[in-house]
Amino acid sequence: MYKCLYIFKPDHNMRAPFLSLLTLVLLLSACTGNRKLSNTGINAYQYAVQKNIQCRNGAVVSAHPLASEAGLSILRKGGNAIDAAIATQLALAVVYPGAGNIGGGGFLVGYLASGKTLAIDYREKAPGAAHRDMYLDANGNANTNLSQDGHLAAGVPGTVAGLFTSAKYGKLPFKDLIQPAIDLAEKGFLITAGEANGLNHSRESFVKLNTISPAFVKDQPWKEGDTLIQTDLANTLKRIRDNGQKGFYEGETAKLIVEEMQRGKGIISYDDLKDYEAKEREIVSFPYKGYTILTMPLPSSGGILLPQMMKMIEDRNVKAMGFQTAASVQLMTEIERRSYADRAKFLGDADFYKVPIQTLTSDAYAKQRMQDYDPNKAGTSTAIQAGQIPESEETTHLSVYDKEGNAVAVTTTLNGSYGSKTVVGRAGFLLNNEMDDFSVKPGVPNMYGAVGADANAILPGKRMLSSMTPTIVLKDQKPYIIAGTPGGTTITTSVFQTLINLLEFDMSVSDAVNRPKFHHQWLPDEIFVERNFPVAVREELQKMGYKIRERGQIGRTEVIRIQADGAIEAVGDHRGDDHAAGF
Ligand code: DON
Repeated sequence: MYKCLYIFKPDHNMRAPFLSLLTLVLLLSACTGNRKLSNTGINAYQYAVQKNIQCRNGAVVSAHPLASEAGLSILRKGGNAIDAAIATQLALAVVYPGAGNIGGGGFLVGYLASGKTLAIDYREKAPGAAHRDMYLDANGNANTNLSQDGHLAAGVPGTVAGLFTSAKYGKLPFKDLIQPAIDLAEKGFLITAGEANGLNHSRESFVKLNTISPAFVKDQPWKEGDTLIQTDLANTLKRIRDNGQKGFYEGETAKLIVEEMQRGKGIISYDDLKDYEAKEREIVSFPYKGYTILTMPLPSSGGILLPQMMKMIEDRNVKAMGFQTAASVQLMTEIERRSYADRAKFLGDADFYKVPIQTLTSDAYAKQRMQDYDPNKAGTSTAIQAGQIPESEETTHLSVYDKEGNAVAVTTTLNGSYGSKTVVGRAGFLLNNEMDDFSVKPGVPNMYGAVGADANAILPGKRMLSSMTPTIVLKDQKPYIIAGTPGGTTITTSVFQTLINLLEFDMSVSDAVNRPKFHHQWLPDEIFVERNFPVAVREELQKMGYKIRERGQIGRTEVIRIQADGAIEAVGDHRGDDHAAGF
């Protein structure tokens, strides 16, 4: 019989004793006894959520306890942070199917102890048969149902290529990294309340958008503690284990993907799969008050927006204004407004479109953009447009650190929760709905309300613009902060706020992650705030002329901070089942 017990357990953050008492530990157990995953000591039938850990030998923080623990088991075995990040992503593809994936894409930002930086791009690509107007009807109206749901919404998946490209920097054999995921898929695991809700919420879509009923559909509603077994997915993972990248992009798995496309009128072909390549790009690196910030370049918009926003705030003494006062929120809002206006006009895959990267990220441009900033008055998105330049809820993040000093930040996604909701028949994995991150028509908002233009129009083989912003901050040329989050267009502003919380407001890591967040993205011209955002500050902002809109949670930020003496603190966001593991 399944038993679920909630207990309070003091966490390891001695600097926040009050909060630590409130750390909620979810203990899941079953009378099925210990069912350990091979060589890991992890019991998928009995596990607890841990939000905060302090340790010295390495840490993994991700959206699910079993995935963080899978990563940790690899560190304990002598794997490095890259190995652990690969194992964690593969486990997430099983235990967190809403966002963890092999049918989606992602970005890895790394800083190795040798000083080498990594920016691995495994973003999905538009299929060869895609074209600019593929989501427009006969009258030229955009049909975003097609870019968001089902077969036609899927870009060519990049994750598996990304994992093998990353593995070049790992130490352990790939078969060791994938085994926890295979076990979790084959033997099953107990699902959390959050997963049960997610699966129930999407049930109708799963039924409608699949040609062969997936493991996610059953007769009775899912409940916390139910067992999820994914045999088809286990077999796909075994093909990847045995045949490497070709185990996904060629052979049986490719055949199953193309057959699924044929049954559902999708357009991904054998050639699209065979030709997919992850790309190692030049990392974005910029200084901030003596720190060095490393983040992902295009097609991540974060690689433009984060440097822009940090440069616009750098000389404005936000610390003196105080955390979440009307003054500091206004300043950050106006900064965000300006960056997101540029995003809509200028940003897209730089392999296909000439993006004025140098200008957009220059100190002079940041200064010039803030010239019309008025601390006494709300700006408007009609008055503030993109700059004049002379040159022509579901994603997931994981942060990993190992005792050798290697740091890894990965954000990976299917785009929406459970992606396109289409599972590849007999292969058991969900396909992304990343095509919606293109601008399907100039000015038509995507599912995150973002608008775009030519720079982000659909072309065959092009990567769609992303907000994912995995980020590492170096202090004295050593990893200091490893951070990132899901949240669609709110990703970059959440990373921005988290860095400001840590670097300017000197917050504890728990506070920097968990305090309420806000977001402005130029259009719509509103400040989005989380429900617990202070009412008095909202009222002050409203008086200044800002429109405030409350929304659900913003992001699920996973942060590791490493002190100069080697002490590691890892924190999983309280907004989900996020779990910090370490030793
Ligand atoms: O790449 C992007 O920007 C989006 N596909 C991310 C989607 C996302 O974060 C959804 N999560 N809540």
